[in-house]
Order: sequence, then C-alpha cells, then structure tokens
Amino acid sequence: MVQVSMTVNGKAVSASVDPRTLLVQFLRENLRLTGTHVGCDTSQCGACVVHVDGVSAKSCTVLAVQAAGCNILTIEGLAAADGTLHPMQEMFREHHALQCGFCTPGMVMSAID
Ligand code: FES
Repeated sequence: MVQVSMTVNGKAVSASVDPRTLLVQFLRENLRLTGTHVGCDTSQCGACVVHVDGVSAKSCTVLAVQAAGCNILTIEGLAAADGTLHPMQEMFREHHALQCGFCTPGMVMSAID
C-alpha cells in the first residue's frame, strides 16, 4: 500500500491504496465520487474522463499514484455550490445531448477541455 494525496474538486484528499489502483477506482471507490463512470475499461469510450491539472484524461488509464499532487476535477466539481450548472452542463441539458446518459459525464468533461 502507498499513500496518495491530491486535490479533488478543490478539496485535499489522501488515502492508502494499492499501487495498481486506477485513478477512476480511487475516485469512485475511495472518494465515492461515482459520477465518473467506467464504460469500456480499455481506454476507448471516454466515460471516465476527468481533468488532471486542467487537461482531460481518461481516468481508467491513469494510476492514482500518477495523479499524486495533481488537481483533479470531476463532474461533481462543475456545478456551483448553489446547484447552478456549469454552462457546458446547461447546454447538454438544453439540447438533450444525453443519449442514455451513462457516458455523459465524460462527454461533458471532454467538451469543456
Ligand atoms: Fe472507457 Fe475509460 S472506461 S475510456
């Protein structure tokens, strides 16, 4: 186990994880931020996209330890504290750009980047 620390949606987080833990696993299982989804698990679909230091990245291809010290932004971090959606989320909603919705969080994060 290794200690990993990073900032997620503006909040400092730290946990002891298996060195093989993927960033998406860390977000979903350690932090319970389940808005980031796993679709293909083979780096093809983009359902798992988050921002790492301001750049979109497929979190199923990044180890949590590789993201140590980074600023991570997930779909949960986009809306304002009062619930106002990010403009990109609002446009997805307004234009019903959802399809089934499973990969929408990753599509929104990619579109913002
Ligand atoms: Fe499909 Fe990451 S889960 S690219």
